[in-house]
Amino acid sequence: MADESKPTINVEKDGPLYIQNAKGLILLDSEGNPFEVTDDEMALCRCGQSRNKPFCDDSHARTGFQSEVKAPPQPA
Ligand code: FES
Repeated sequence: MADESKPTINVEKDGPLYIQNAKGLILLDSEGNPFEVTDDEMALCRCGQSRNKPFCDDSHARTGFQSEVKAPPQPA
């Protein structure tokens, strides 16, 4: 179980990378320039179709993006 006070990234089924507790995270473009992160939650595009990259704009639903990523089982 994740520590609910730490930033957590969920790989959403057929959707974005959904980040909770995002406030304070630094998100940089390819040249090292920061995006403004003001919300405590954000979704980053994983389908490549967003018109507002790197953020998700729900284009994944319109385009029928399908991807379900499962973490490997953790050792007991
Ligand atoms: S994952 Fe939502 S627009 Fe790409």
